[in-house]
Order: sequence, then structure tokens, then C-alpha cells
Amino acid sequence: MAGSDALVAAARQAREHAVATYSGFKVGAALETATGEIITGCNVENASYGLTICAERVAIFKALSEGHRQFTRIVVVADTESPTPPCGACRQIIWEFCGDAEVIIANTKEVKAVLRMKDLLPLPFDNRLL
Ligand code: THU
Repeated sequence: MAGSDALVAAARQAREHAVATYSGFKVGAALETATGEIITGCNVENASYGLTICAERVAIFKALSEGHRQFTRIVVVADTESPTPPCGACRQIIWEFCGDAEVIIANTKEVKAVLRMKDLLPLPFDNRLL
């Protein structure tokens, strides 16, 4: 397991690649796999705004497409003073693929919050209900 410093640094670096053409709001994410690898993502925006995809989902879909299936932690980095948590859609996706993972919210200088998914999505819809 990488130290959280390495994971946070990876998310900060990924944020630099954000394609935030319309909002200017750059976000980076770094996902830690159960085997200790780090997979990163950034937000990618589109002129058709609703097609924008968040950094967290880019990281998760990249990781899944590379064969990873178990995840322990995810870092989200934005350049904001108050913590920028995953949006509702990302919470659903994180829950689906990462379960009760640790969520570390940081900005470009410091870690602002360390949470668990069960607290960010307290009454989840998931495959137990199907
Ligand atoms: N965004 C993310 O990438 N992750 C979040 O957790 C919050 C929002 C992106 C989507 C959009 O490109 C920009 O931030 C502004 O909403």
C-alpha cells in the first residue's frame, strides 16, 4: 500500500491534465488498487456540457478497463479552500466498484478531510436490492 502522500501527489499531478475548458474547475483523482497500484484520472469536459466526466469516474473506468477490480482508497483534489467531495453520480459509481472505500479530499496544499463512502452515501442503492 502506497503512503497517502504518494496517492495525494498522484491526484495533484493528474489534476494538471484536467480538460476543464468550460468551468475552469480542475479536478484530479487517484485510486489505490488492492495490490497497491495507483490509477489516476482528471475531469474531461465537453461543449455538450452534460457529457463531461468527473475525475473520479475517469480513474475508476481506467482502472476497471485495465483489469483492476478491488480498490481501497480514492483521493480527490481541487484547488479550493473548502473540501471538494465527489458529486452524487460519482458517489454511486465509487460505491458500486469500491464499496466502503476511504475517500481523501485534498487541495493543492493539504489534505482537508478523510471520510468513508458509507458516510458519503448512507442509504445506497446497490445490487443487494436487485
Ligand atoms: N468535478 C469532478 O471532476 N469531480 C468532482 O468531484 C466534482 C466536479 C468536475 C466536473 C466538471 O468538469 C467540473 O468539476 C465542475 O463541475
